[in-house]
Amino acid sequence: MTKGRIVAGFLAPHPPHLVYGENPPQNEPRSQCGWEQLRWAYERARKTLDELKPDVLLVHSPHWTTQLGHHFLGVPHLKGKSVDPIFPNLFRYEFELDVDVELAEACCAEARNAGLVTRMMRNPGFRVDYGTITTLHMMRPQWDIPVVGISANNSPYYLNLGEGLGEMDTLGKATRRAIEKTGRRAVLLASNTLCHWHFHQEPLIPEDMSQEHPQTFDGYKWDMRMIELMRRGETQELFRVLPQFIQEAFAEVKSGAFTWMYAAMGYPNIPAELHGYGNVIGTGNAVMEWNLERYGGNLPFNERPIAA
Ligand SMILES: [Fe+2]
Repeated sequence: MTKGRIVAGFLAPHPPHLVYGENPPQNEPRSQCGWEQLRWAYERARKTLDELKPDVLLVHSPHWTTQLGHHFLGVPHLKGKSVDPIFPNLFRYEFELDVDVELAEACCAEARNAGLVTRMMRNPGFRVDYGTITTLHMMRPQWDIPVVGISANNSPYYLNLGEGLGEMDTLGKATRRAIEKTGRRAVLLASNTLCHWHFHQEPLIPEDMSQEHPQTFDGYKWDMRMIELMRRGETQELFRVLPQFIQEAFAEVKSGAFTWMYAAMGYPNIPAELHGYGNVIGTGNAVMEWNLERYGGNLPFNERPIAA
């Protein structure tokens, strides 16, 4: 078997508003328009994804919360209705997806061997969370590529931040080893918003874009600083300021997907491409791409642990 590899990673946030704005047949509520800059950013990301022709999409979502350990979807075919508990008025989505169970099991085993608590999710009636579904729909609405879904253990929220993100670093490196051993051509999707300060009231018409803007100027400035570091490939500085960013911008990257993806890619210092940025109910969202294929494949694997 040829050695597998990660061909790209994407920062692929999951506000359900984007699916609502697009009006796909799977989603019940109907909109007039909305959040076009982000939706068109995803259209550009979809184009690259199509060119990369991956075997599998791996997604880590903050909204599949598992308090005890890191869980992996482990049922070959899942079907059902996913509803956002915060915005049930916007997202009631009939999903149907195929899971790459062999790779999921390999990820689970590698992470367990690295010392993490892990578990396969075997419930055939499992309702996949809206974060996983939104990210996958926005990246690949055809649903024709198998997926590996990974839960958020949310350890950064109840351990100290350094320890929690350290677990995500371990999970990322384990994910990479599993991809290499199973020979997959893989794309990673980090389902995270950046600045997560948000409004507490929804406009009467949710898609009324005259009401949409950053919730705070400070949060906006943080997002631009982080995006610029990613665009320049200044990975060391990016991870140096990450704890402060998480603290001051209430950033959703705290839940770990972002660190998981970077660790799996080997903390590459390649420039990320920004497909687009936009606000959703005040939060900051960027669709970004790290194309390891274009930059000559993965850089040497960096085993450096994240500073606590
Ligand atoms: Fe979220």
